[in-house]
Amino acid sequence: MSLDYYVQKIREGGVVAFPTETVYGLGADAWNPDAVRKIFEIKGRPADNPLIVHISKPEWIDQFAESINDEAYKLIDRFWPGPLTLIFKKKPQVLDMITAGLDSVAIRMPNHKLALELIDQTGPLVAPSANISGRPSPTRPSHVKTDFGDVVPVIDGGICDVGIESTVLDISHKPFEIYRPGYISKSDIEETIKQPIRIHKTGEQAGKVKSPGMKYSHYAPKARVFWLKTGEDPNDPDILYLIHSKENNTGRFRNIITYNGDYRLFTKELYDRFRQADREGYMAIAIEPFIETKSEELALAVLNRIKKAIGNN
Ligand code: TXA
Ligand code: MG
Repeated sequence: MSLDYYVQKIREGGVVAFPTETVYGLGADAWNPDAVRKIFEIKGRPADNPLIVHISKPEWIDQFAESINDEAYKLIDRFWPGPLTLIFKKKPQVLDMITAGLDSVAIRMPNHKLALELIDQTGPLVAPSANISGRPSPTRPSHVKTDFGDVVPVIDGGICDVGIESTVLDISHKPFEIYRPGYISKSDIEETIKQPIRIHKTGEQAGKVKSPGMKYSHYAPKARVFWLKTGEDPNDPDILYLIHSKENNTGRFRNIITYNGDYRLFTKELYDRFRQADREGYMAIAIEPFIETKSEELALAVLNRIKKAIGNN
């Protein structure tokens, strides 16, 4: 199918799944209320969880954001297109459905050729991850098919390069706060804007949910996810063992997938491993724990997703 087909679908108010560098998104015209409503229906997404607006030109921010500070320009200059979502104070014309009634709006410019070509032609798209609410985000076209069958047409862009969702950074008030850690790290951001930022711990502050997505259970396969303990049976046929360090790749585990210290690859494949466990009927996934001192910044983002899958947020 040519890109025109998908452009037409969006123009007709339809929903199309498209690749980004992080995960596949479920896209709809950000200015069409009926199309935006479809996203919530198809995903089974709670109405109080706001959506990210995806753009293909930084200038388009003006349509959505009330004001753009100097730090925003610096971050955009360095990281866009790329896996960094910025939260701005919103303009009144932004659909309430998108922002779930908040006074802020999340915007990002994905670093994927097909996504940018699509958005160039359709205009801004709202796009949550293209999974049924609560399931792991899709990093391959087949994942989208598993969740939505033929209901949603998918633009095939192969396997997503990053594999976990974008870093979400609120720059609408100081100190800036990371709501969702991702591939763009705290120190990348601090180095760029020359000021300290915070990592929001729970998504809740003074009783108010700041980033509603954080309160929902997320990223979870049907298989139970747990940290591998020393002394655990390495031979349980119902368990898929994920070992990321070189040291623990000992060959004593039965259904083992190893990464030999390649945390970039581990991140890229994590959601496919979750989905693999379900496809192949495993009861559980045992993940080698991260040693605190080893928690490189990418590990922080992966740790966040694993903890959510375990239900330990
Ligand atoms: O990498 C990504 O960001 C992917 C791809 C498709 O671009 N999209 C994605 O969207 O992960 P979604 O809807 O699955 O997650 C968006 C997150 C949610 O946690 C939501 O609560 C938060 O961003 N969010 C959106 N707008 C917000 C706002 N105005 N204030 C605070 N959090 C917001
Ligand atoms: Mg999502």
